Amino acid sequence: MTNPDLLPGPLPSSLQLTKEGHLKHFLTVEGLPPLMLEEILNRAEQFVTLPNKTQRKAPLLRGKTVVNLFFENSTRTRTTFELAAQRLSADIINLDIRTSATAKGESLLDTIRNLEAMNVDMFVVRHQHSGAAHFIARYCAPYISVINAGDGRHAHPTQAMLDMLTIRQFKGTFAPLKVAIVGDILHSRVARSQIHALTTLCTGEVRVIGPRTLIPTGIEQMGVNVFHDLHAGLDDVDVIIMLRLQKERMQHALLPSAHEFYKRYGLTEEGLRYAKPKAIVMHPGPSNRGVEIDSKVADGPQSVILPQVTNGIAIRMAIMSMTMGSQSGKSS
Ligand code: NCD
Repeated sequence: MTNPDLLPGPLPSSLQLTKEGHLKHFLTVEGLPPLMLEEILNRAEQFVTLPNKTQRKAPLLRGKTVVNLFFENSTRTRTTFELAAQRLSADIINLDIRTSATAKGESLLDTIRNLEAMNVDMFVVRHQHSGAAHFIARYCAPYISVINAGDGRHAHPTQAMLDMLTIRQFKGTFAPLKVAIVGDILHSRVARSQIHALTTLCTGEVRVIGPRTLIPTGIEQMGVNVFHDLHAGLDDVDVIIMLRLQKERMQHALLPSAHEFYKRYGLTEEGLRYAKPKAIVMHPGPSNRGVEIDSKVADGPQSVILPQVTNGIAIRMAIMSMTMGSQSGKSS
């Protein structure tokens, strides 16, 4: 029997590859070959731009229409998908779910059918239910690509890939690295996708750190070591990834209080000293200062939280252009 904490169980990752092994949809990192992850990272590297430089548009998605379908709130993910589409010369529509027919009771499939009738080419989907992007990929028209921008607590594969790009930029190869993911692992789709990506890329050691109530039982099966003591878990690590407490997904009290959590698991300058001196600190955002991370660390010299955001555009450009079958990552 599958472990309910690791829900929703294996979704068919085969759905996202064509018979020839090309990326058709991007729904989950799970099951993708290491070479595919490296191809995404290499292609994204070509799209990384320096601050203050004029952004040149690549023509790879010219004539294509992308729909951002966000059924949940988002700042970074939605905006960077939008910028990525624009920098690939696509037309992009942001469907505002609150003012759409969904609010009048239209089913997800009906919404999809109506957007298909407008000849769109790609759906970028964020949904509160695990498996929503897989569902759309299965039932949408065959020429459409679907990208999962976060489904329930299942997966957030583009976030994981932008995190891998950031780790590779700051630390080089994955094999010698010790990476710790800290906090609310139980409700985090980001953590699940990061663990799949890190293990596929043969990271030396992946640790998860948090209270027993926020670590899924059986998570060791995913190839990670579990720690309940922050300082022991941070000992000698190269990368620290902090996660937000996902209170909106907690059905009952899993913690005494946010203050208590901060005392035991919040990353402060003192805690950071247990990691390697050049360890980097990451956070997918939105971060809650004083709950999982101290401002001095979030804004400190070891933080790479803002480079993560910048890399989100390059990663999303890479994945969008790959799913649309473009052959080159070079800009015009
Ligand atoms: C995350 C998400 O929405 O899953 N944020 C993000 O996409 N940058 C993490 C979170 O909500 O805590």
